[in-house]
Amino acid sequence: GLVTTKEMFQKAYEGGYAIGAFNVNNMEIVQGITEAAGALCSPVILQVSKGARAYANHTYLVKLVEAALIENDIPMALHLDHGPDFATCKACIDGGFTSVMIDGSQYDFDKNAELTRQVVEYAHEKGVVVEGELGKLAGVEDDVKVEASDAMYTHPDQVQEFVERTGVDSLAIAIGTSHGAFKFKPGQKPQLRFDILEEITKRLPDFPIVLHGASSVSQEYVKIIQQNGGELADAIGIPEDMLRRAAKSAVCKINIDSDLRLAMTAGVRQVMAQKPSAFDPREYLKAGRANVKELVAHKIVNVLGSDQKA
Ligand code: G3H
Ligand code: 13P
Ligand code: ZN
Repeated sequence: GLVTTKEMFQKAYEGGYAIGAFNVNNMEIVQGITEAAGALCSPVILQVSKGARAYANHTYLVKLVEAALIENDIPMALHLDHGPDFATCKACIDGGFTSVMIDGSQYDFDKNAELTRQVVEYAHEKGVVVEGELGKLAGVEDDVKVEASDAMYTHPDQVQEFVERTGVDSLAIAIGTSHGAFKFKPGQKPQLRFDILEEITKRLPDFPIVLHGASSVSQEYVKIIQQNGGELADAIGIPEDMLRRAAKSAVCKINIDSDLRLAMTAGVRQVMAQKPSAFDPREYLKAGRANVKELVAHKIVNVLGSDQKA
């Protein structure tokens, strides 16, 4: 059956690699990810956001992941991504997930800690692990200058108290990544605050850290999308060498969603453009699924280093 992330993270920490946490919301994405992980004997985390749950329905997602587990004999965890409140976390804990994130990062420290502690208490009773978050990820939509957003980064002085007070099993931090396909302004040099990560690691030795907003925004897929009618000017992600560095550190979970969306969209657009007569969904979804599989295989081997670790 599905496993928690406990053993995955312990091995990843000791082995100097990271587990990919990929967002899923339909069958083709689940298949593309798990076929790649299965072929490479890599553990994998499939994660579901509130929006994905609203789109695909909780039961469909759980059953799709259970099917993927029957088809691929690898350690797999089913995780709630950015759980917004206790009720959503509880629904996932009660409904077959093995891991949940409670994202209290928009609240002040005390409220975040209290909400997180409440979820941990319930989750641990049921054998489910919990990811918390300290610090705020910069969002392009927030229109904040990344350089001026020092206040958004995780404060290393707070992490120990947060983990002790809440009992979380892993911690998401903010060191300069952001969600979406537009992580840096054109001309701006991509940068992550590895110094903050190091400070956090000193205060939380042997504790698994999570990196959100970690898509690389492959320019190959951006180009295919643009050449086939898509609009994606100035899409920029996190350079792969930075992610490799993170994977070797205390970062045990690397979250990837935007790259999957780009891969899927590139495949679908290519078929649509090259074959205007295509109207069988299998034709274009097959191309999207193949791209997802290729992308995830690339991540596992060249970025995460989780191949042959199952
Ligand atoms: O962190 C956000 C993930 O990419 C999920 O996005 O809320 O649009 O499903 P979503
Ligand atoms: P990206 O938008 O960089 O793929 O980040 C995904 C994420 O953090 C999901 O929680
Ligand atoms: Zn995220």
